[in-house]
Amino acid sequence: MIKQLGNLFVLETENSSYIFRVLDSGHLEHLYYGRKVTIQVEEDAEYLYPTRAFLPGNHAAYSEEYNTLSLESLCQEVSSLGKGDYSVPFVDVVCADGSRTCDFRFCGARIGSGSPDEDADGLPHSWAGDLGKTPQSLTVTLKDEEQKLSLEIAWYLYEECDVITRTAKIHNDSEGDVRLEALMSAQLDFPTRGTTDRGMILTTFTGGWAREMQRNDHHLTSGRYVSESLLGTSSSRANPFCMLRREASSEDYGEVYGFNLIYSGNHRESVEVNSGRIRFMTGIHPQGFEWQLKPGDDFSAPEAVFSFSGKGMNGLSHNMHDFIREHILRGPWAKKPRPVLLNSWEACFMDISEKRLTRFARAAKAAGIELLVMDDGWFGKRTDDTSSLGDWTPDSNKLPGGVTGLCKKINDIGLDFGIWVEPEMVNVDSDLYRAHPDWALEIPGHPHSEGRTQRVLDLTRPEVVDHLIEVMSELFGSADIKYVKWDMNRNFTDVFSSSLPPEEQGKVAHLYMIGLYRLMKTLTERFPQILFEGCASGGNRTDLGILCYFPQIWGSDNTDALCRAEIQNGYSYGYPLSVIGSHVSGVPNHQTLREAPLSSSYADASFDILGYECTLPDMSAADKKAIAKQVAFYKIWREVYFNGTFYRGR
Ligand code: GLA
Repeated sequence: MIKQLGNLFVLETENSSYIFRVLDSGHLEHLYYGRKVTIQVEEDAEYLYPTRAFLPGNHAAYSEEYNTLSLESLCQEVSSLGKGDYSVPFVDVVCADGSRTCDFRFCGARIGSGSPDEDADGLPHSWAGDLGKTPQSLTVTLKDEEQKLSLEIAWYLYEECDVITRTAKIHNDSEGDVRLEALMSAQLDFPTRGTTDRGMILTTFTGGWAREMQRNDHHLTSGRYVSESLLGTSSSRANPFCMLRREASSEDYGEVYGFNLIYSGNHRESVEVNSGRIRFMTGIHPQGFEWQLKPGDDFSAPEAVFSFSGKGMNGLSHNMHDFIREHILRGPWAKKPRPVLLNSWEACFMDISEKRLTRFARAAKAAGIELLVMDDGWFGKRTDDTSSLGDWTPDSNKLPGGVTGLCKKINDIGLDFGIWVEPEMVNVDSDLYRAHPDWALEIPGHPHSEGRTQRVLDLTRPEVVDHLIEVMSELFGSADIKYVKWDMNRNFTDVFSSSLPPEEQGKVAHLYMIGLYRLMKTLTERFPQILFEGCASGGNRTDLGILCYFPQIWGSDNTDALCRAEIQNGYSYGYPLSVIGSHVSGVPNHQTLREAPLSSSYADASFDILGYECTLPDMSAADKKAIAKQVAFYKIWREVYFNGTFYRGR
């Protein structure tokens, strides 16, 4: 429930309260976020008001009128630069006159209902869910009267999940051009008792290829802590999910705050501990970002998600899991348990053929597996990764009956059929690149860095997105395709769009995301029966933006049983296991060469969405029997694995 009590705003979920007020100066002072407290009238919150009897030491006084107000120590909802606050700003703008000082003050508030508007900004958003739990919302408008800028901050309450989301939009009401250098998504300031606070831990999830979601606990002292990605994707280097928690907290006890972003590109989460304040900030990474706002223009930041639990990290995870299942996932597959699949990659790599795949399908059928996935290697002249991305026509030597013929054969064996694509990429050795060299993100006339011998298509260009919609629609409509693995294997380098002028190059990384979301939205709406699985060299883009369109993500290219247990455990803090794909693979493991028993691999994979990625037809009779038993057991318990509540033990 949202209450406005005079100058006080109280946002209440089932078990948490979030409170701020408007100061006489017009600034929004953050007062409290944590366990639910009872506030009936404005005076009930008085114990939360700090006294500002005098200006601390050499702090800057906000103004002559408010000469005891220091923005350096004020807990705020929205911070900016130039008026005495020296910490990470929520908004950073170079104004029309060249100055960098801005100051947003309260102008009005509106309580309403409904999730953020999807069509307004081209970004994915939380939604009411199919149970129709429409969130209450609070929109506050702030203005910088000097520079003629306005800011709209909105909060959305998903009460039953103890989740609050927040959006931000800046508008240029002035007559001149303004350069936006940062607009973050959420800010949360916590008051501290001294100059440093040793009572809190920042938990981040970092790693790399094949070692996603490694948990790190940073015991906060003074200074700045950053978890970030500049890869162009949300990345395996630092997932946008993180937690702030009291030092005494554990899996089952204590106060824990969790944060995430509904976004798939560059991001930065930072925590700054300084005099009297811990400031958390999350949003698009300001590095490399720059957005020109002409008079009348606006810019919207991605939606941020935060949650509080007084029941330890398990409690926080349950809030996040419930929220993702109910308010992020959508479409016919959102709540439907997933088929058990056999994927060709680790067994065949690109050496696939209709003959080989039908042999796999027969072995899969005998084991009770329900879907066969043809991974990379089926199109163009793709014998290795140096060619053909962009040319999405089947290789007739490998697939004499094309995708249509193969799908029919797989269906006749009694299995559903799925296919691998990597739409966002192009090889230089491809007909697409030869026809449209300017469709890749490149700096014309300059040498380009390489990554898996492929380039990233320029999705800032609407014609590229339109082309991909057309080509993918043709492919997905060419057979009874029930599943698509959507891969993305290249980090951004040499970021530049030849369709944009020099002063707009700072938009490229974000405009790419807007293009990607239009592509995903159009195709998932056009093919609702297809189950899409996101992938990016494993989990290089596991985030809430992707999950708004694809209900599952391939968690890691590392299928080793021991490593996988760590990776899956990491994911479970912020994501339900029912959105992560996991496969039982061959022995010795391709990534680690470890010889883990089949049963260990299964024990991991069954907690996520179970699949197999091994040379099933050539396995021993005993292994085949064991796999058939695993699949049968999984089918009995699939509903529980999928919809159950997951508790991490000790
Ligand atoms: C990436 C994926 C793998 C596989 C290959 C195919 O590495 O993560 O699962 O699909 O691409 O090239």
